[in-house]
Amino acid sequence: MFRLELKNISKTFGHFKANDGINLSVSSGEVHAILGENGAGKSTLMKIIFGLYQPDQGGEILINGEKTQIQSPRFAIKLGIGMVHQHFMLVRPFTILQNIILGVEPRNALGMIDYKRARAEVMKLSEEYNFKIDPELKIENISVGMQQRVEILKTLYRNAELIILDEPTAVLTPQEITDFYRIVRNLKARGKTIIIITHKLHEIKEIADSCTIIRKGRYIETVNVSETSEEDLASKMVGRKVDLKIKKEKAHPGDEVLCISALNANNDKGLPAVRNFDLTIRRGEILGLAGIDGNGQSELVEALVGLRKIKSGSVKINGRELVGLTPKQIYENKLAMIPEDRQRRGLVLDFKVKENFVLQTIANAPFSNYGFIITRELDKFANALMERFDIRPRNIELNARNLSGGNQQKIILAREIANNPDVLIAFQPTRGLDVGAIEYIHQELVKLRDAGKAVLLISYELDEIINLSDRIAVIVEGSVTANLDDQTISNEKNIKEHIGLYMAGRGHA
Ligand SMILES: Nc1ncnc2c1ncn2[C@@H]1O[C@H](COP(=O)(O)OP(=O)(O)OP(=O)(O)O)[C@@H](O)[C@H]1O
Ligand SMILES: [Mg+2]
Repeated sequence: MFRLELKNISKTFGHFKANDGINLSVSSGEVHAILGENGAGKSTLMKIIFGLYQPDQGGEILINGEKTQIQSPRFAIKLGIGMVHQHFMLVRPFTILQNIILGVEPRNALGMIDYKRARAEVMKLSEEYNFKIDPELKIENISVGMQQRVEILKTLYRNAELIILDEPTAVLTPQEITDFYRIVRNLKARGKTIIIITHKLHEIKEIADSCTIIRKGRYIETVNVSETSEEDLASKMVGRKVDLKIKKEKAHPGDEVLCISALNANNDKGLPAVRNFDLTIRRGEILGLAGIDGNGQSELVEALVGLRKIKSGSVKINGRELVGLTPKQIYENKLAMIPEDRQRRGLVLDFKVKENFVLQTIANAPFSNYGFIITRELDKFANALMERFDIRPRNIELNARNLSGGNQQKIILAREIANNPDVLIAFQPTRGLDVGAIEYIHQELVKLRDAGKAVLLISYELDEIINLSDRIAVIVEGSVTANLDDQTISNEKNIKEHIGLYMAGRGHA
């Protein structure tokens, strides 16, 4: 008997079928992966299991063999189902403890919240799973990895037996991912059933027992992970053979375009985060900045685009000094950025897709004329980007909020690449994208390079840096500690370990 069984589940939004007759059988105690392209309908399906959406007529949901209707999340929780969403749902000014017990607070005889009991219960769970949380910290002050543990604890506190994790590792650093795997194994060892959505094929191999593949809202098949290769998974998902390697010719670097010298900036706590940072990038090259998360990458990017105060140093694009200019002026000088946090920086979720394409350029020709928006031009531009970047569904009138996570990311990429910057700072550009989309975005970045532009690629994924970069610099504690040229990158056999050592501050430049 299956722990959870879905038969012929469909979900229509307006005229769009996000799920179309999906079957899913999850056994008790297994880790079951869900694989599918951006917009395939994975999150929608999970929201149905968690009672957030009601499926269309004609489908069935069985829990432990019994036919059930999951009317609400409250009811899902009663059935022992918990969910951690793709975008976390924590209350940022609240403490960890307050968030975990929210809505199910234990009360004492007087009807007051019994924090003492709540804290004891939360600490017991935290220790059992080795989560190492401090329940009194506020969400806004803890790392993303910690926030995720809070979300998982929240489901455990509600006695979840079946836990749904929607792209849990997309937002984690490699170090946090290792911890996360440990947590999943631990949950499994304690008899929990896990459904996990991920775009990372090696991750499926690493932690999942079985994997259900869906494509364009339809069920394709369920495979036994130990009998399947990453290539198999990729082609089943996309419906064609996918090349996991990047195709690019040798770079032909031209003039220096971005020149950063002796740059210094503080972090939010007022401590030095970027220290005497030096880097020069030429036209026609992709420079990868490798480093462990938290070594000043976020602060560096913010300083470069005018969102963080620069203490000293210089940033020049095409010889023009940018220090002291506003973010808008910097953008007009053709320095663009794909931000790390797409929901907070990159998009206005309640604006239409087409409006998100022109956030910085709406007042310019051809989109405006004497203050009037030329809808025809805007629509033409927006529709072309939807086509070129395969953003689904092809509806420029939808609010960005209603697009899948990966398609939201594609909107930002499309906008910034289409603006034709001289230098594009790509900060974790492929986070949350499926392998087909990653292949495409990498190709677009190479095209930008071949058109004589420069790309500063910042990623915590060393594989992405090594595969895509023509040159690599390593950042440790806010400074560049090593520079590797294309010869070294392509010829050295243990390049990954080599860079890993630099990143840990132990290599020799
Ligand atoms: N509330 C909604 N209104 C309209 N369309 C929606 C809504 N929610 C989802 N969709 C559409 O349904 C499709 C499936 O979305 P879903 O979020 O399930 O995809 P996904 O497989 O999780 O993708 P990703 O990997 O990018 O997160 C998308 O095309 C999306 O635009
Ligand atoms: Mg999703």
